Amino acid sequence: MKHADTPTRPSEATSQIPDVEVTLSVNGDAYRMRFDSRVTLLDALRDHLGLTGAKKGCDQGACGACTVLVDGKRIVSCLALAAQYDGHEITTVEGLTDNGEPHPLQKAFARHDAFQCGYCTPGQIMSAVSLEAEGCAGTDADICEFMSGNICRCGAYPNIRAAIRDVVSEGNDASV
Ligand code: FES
Ligand code: FES
Repeated sequence: MKHADTPTRPSEATSQIPDVEVTLSVNGDAYRMRFDSRVTLLDALRDHLGLTGAKKGCDQGACGACTVLVDGKRIVSCLALAAQYDGHEITTVEGLTDNGEPHPLQKAFARHDAFQCGYCTPGQIMSAVSLEAEGCAGTDADICEFMSGNICRCGAYPNIRAAIRDVVSEGNDASV
């Protein structure tokens, strides 16, 4: 059991909202944490655990940059309260590598140059991992439709699609 740092913000010192104690299981490690019950899963990951792979783009569920897996299913972590996920299995982009070996989708994104600034990329990859598990990556139209919650401001969509198609068509196991 690991204990995470719990930074205190000035506003929290006077908050009347009681803290909650939660055990978050992230990338195979369990973290006993204590924080304000209003803390989002994204902020818990980034600010309390130092896992900055999931990005804060819009902070209102519209861009997909903060996508992580909970029990194997993708969610936007900026709209999720961390306290809801006590005991659930959370996977972030940092948890995709296997003994230092990048996930097939990570390799495909690099191979196809499927990014420019890279800000959306962790969310794109986490969504793509889930997409394959959902069996929704049959055609380019499917990939467009089911990746539509992940916005790329740089417009790397053709290369993102190519990377996903590559993994699917190669029959690689994209599960985690
Ligand atoms: Fe969560 Fe944009 S930061 S959807
Ligand atoms: Fe820049 Fe997608 S690579 S936002």
